[in-house]
Amino acid sequence: MPDRIKRAADMLSNARKVTVLTGAGISAESNVPTFRGKDGLWKNFRPEDLATPEAFKRDPKLVWEWYKWRRGIVTKCRTNPAHEVIAKMESRFSSFTLVTQNVDGLHRRAGNKNVLELHGNLFKARCTKEGTIMDLDQGDDPLPKCPDCGALLRPHIVWFGESLDPEILQKAFAASVSCDIFLVAGTSAIVQPAATLPLYARQSGAPVIEVNLERTALSSMVNISLTGKAGEILPRIWEQMGDCE
Ligand code: OAD
Repeated sequence: MPDRIKRAADMLSNARKVTVLTGAGISAESNVPTFRGKDGLWKNFRPEDLATPEAFKRDPKLVWEWYKWRRGIVTKCRTNPAHEVIAKMESRFSSFTLVTQNVDGLHRRAGNKNVLELHGNLFKARCTKEGTIMDLDQGDDPLPKCPDCGALLRPHIVWFGESLDPEILQKAFAASVSCDIFLVAGTSAIVQPAATLPLYARQSGAPVIEVNLERTALSSMVNISLTGKAGEILPRIWEQMGDCE
């Protein structure tokens, strides 16, 4: 493992264009629940009741209540060393793209400015009539409404059965096929199209480094697979990269 961490650090030190893809595992050490782990959200809740357009049509109050509960959890959380290293990377490389599946906003809180949020954001809402995206201030309202037109708002989250924002996805693909190194951390790499981004990078000739608590569907295809906590491994990589504060 120390050798592989050193190799990853050397590869990153020599890179100019870096793309990072993160998933729920990056926020696990901040105590944000993941989706598929032992205590993952999808072990305790049914996505078809809470995270589909049909669920929202059937029971919008229940769906809003669930997202409010999740926002409450995240509001109390703090960023962890994995977020902090990824934030420092943004200023370290001449070209850096962070693509995240996380909706918790913790990467921005840690200091990343340029974040492609593939699956939306818990703290944003969207007008069901006009599609306007806005910061969310739900307060005690079980069914928040659009301040402009009065229509029902919905969480700004990509639900099962929905497409990703094509502009964000296009930027994520472009950053994946043009980087020198692709780092993927804390994702089970099961959900598409996010899971194909490292494969595009690999096909375009960029080495892929994976950091995860356990082996994933990607592990056998990456160049360096680092098994352990992102909040421990990423700081060790950062320490070994030259010219870092
Ligand atoms: P998952 O819950 O599927 O996977 C979390 C991954 O993080 C697993 O592979 C864990 O082994 C790993 N992990 C857990 N703790 C870790 C730690 N401390 N350090 C490193 N790795 C750790 O979450 P995602 O892959 O993000 O979609 O799931 C993808 C999407 O599925 C989510 O964005 C969500 C969900 O349905 C939407 O909400 C639209």
